[in-house]
Amino acid sequence: MKFSLSNDAPHQIQTPCLVVAVIEDAPLQGITEKVNHASGELISKKLDSGDIDASRGSLTLLHDVEGIAAERILVVGCGSQAKLDRARFEKSCLDAGKFLRDHALKEAHFCLSDVAVEDLDARWRLRQCALAVDRSNYLYTATKAVRVHSPKPLQSASFSGGEQMQAALDQARDMAIGVRTARELGNLPPNICTPAYLADYAETITERYENTEAEILHRPEMSELGMNALLGVSQGSKNTPRLIILKYQGAAQDQQPVVLVGKGITFDSGGISIKPAENMDQMKFDMCGAAAVIGAFESCAKMKLPINLVSVVAAAENMPGSDAYRPGDVLTSMSGQTIEVLNTDAEGRLILCDALTYCKRFNAKSMIDVATLTGACVVALGHHASALMTKHDDLADELLEAGNQTVDRAWRLPLWEDYQSQLKTPFADMKNVGGMPAGSITAGCFLSRFVKDQRWAHLDIAGSAWKWGQTEGATGRPVGLLTQFLINQA
Ligand code: BES
Ligand code: MN
Ligand code: ZN
Repeated sequence: MKFSLSNDAPHQIQTPCLVVAVIEDAPLQGITEKVNHASGELISKKLDSGDIDASRGSLTLLHDVEGIAAERILVVGCGSQAKLDRARFEKSCLDAGKFLRDHALKEAHFCLSDVAVEDLDARWRLRQCALAVDRSNYLYTATKAVRVHSPKPLQSASFSGGEQMQAALDQARDMAIGVRTARELGNLPPNICTPAYLADYAETITERYENTEAEILHRPEMSELGMNALLGVSQGSKNTPRLIILKYQGAAQDQQPVVLVGKGITFDSGGISIKPAENMDQMKFDMCGAAAVIGAFESCAKMKLPINLVSVVAAAENMPGSDAYRPGDVLTSMSGQTIEVLNTDAEGRLILCDALTYCKRFNAKSMIDVATLTGACVVALGHHASALMTKHDDLADELLEAGNQTVDRAWRLPLWEDYQSQLKTPFADMKNVGGMPAGSITAGCFLSRFVKDQRWAHLDIAGSAWKWGQTEGATGRPVGLLTQFLINQA
């Protein structure tokens, strides 16, 4: 989507739609008040008569308003000022964006970032508003041949503000690119978005952005390295695995990079420990961690951040078959530690452990893996927060703060040693499942055994990466959190 700024008086802006905010328990203020004045107090009259509702979630469209150059005014109810926190603000911007999409408007001018939200400044409000407008106007079309009655997304959005807002708007544009990439990769079907497809996509990124390079490892190289855990997971599928390494150099060569590692299971059938048929299609989203680290990489390269970044994707398909790995198998990971497989559906940790071991070579400043790792995470946190696990309090604070800054929030779970004993087995150094209690934490504990002495954190995005059901699909989370984290490093 095209973003632009305008310093013109809002009532003089020629646009198909002018979008303004009203607050339930506060007098009209800022831009809304100016528009109201220019329209002969139309907005306040309609508020008084009850034709405009200021409660949260209500939208009122006014046509042909005298004194206003815009063809329409969309009045967005933001509810009470006291409750107008960052999440509600974002929700209001999303609602407005969706409304315009559903009414097939091609352009609009947004004045929503004029309202007060907690103690957040105008630049933040503008950026989040632009991000929300872009988000609500993403439309998946890649595998549709016939498009009847499909919504027509906005093509350009302008915002009130002068030059001092340009950097915030550019940031929104660049973050939105990464979010869109993650959503599109996530939504693609598993017969198209295979490990090979992800690898090809990564290579196209290096053609589009400066200071980037990609390296792709195939089975023979992985064998050579001893990545038998990753290879074990993938051996039941004819879609062969890939280890994708994307590098961006935005700082001096000797500066330690941030390393992001993504789970890229392009389809998780469960393998021999096969999943139930119902909702199995949702497991095409099991590569959303990979999609997020690729998306954040793209945003970082687009912004030309002065940091070094490595995004690594472990891509494989988990399928049953005569070649498939089985419960009872013992795999020797790249680290040398052995793993007894008790459930082939706990495959994410197996591909990630080898990817994490591989990443030792980068001597990372911080290393963050992102994975749709456990159903237990959805039980614990639902669809609103990603689960964060790390032993490093300072890294936890940085990541939680980045999530708050982008309303792409995470919540921390403990990684205490107490849980480690759930991974004990007589037949190997560890088993790949820890039983029912604390399923997300024992998965994190498993990974922690492969990153000793490193500044590492794990994000379980099983609940946040996509909206369950058939309508919305991939959310692009946590590209916002990750990109903000990278911006804060710079
Ligand atoms: N990809 C799934 C986790 C998942 C399930 C994410 C549902 C989102 C929604 C993962 O590979 C998996 O199957 N985990 C198992 C682990 C168990 C066998 C220890 C799970 O959570 O059931
Ligand atoms: Mn699984
Ligand atoms: Zn999985």
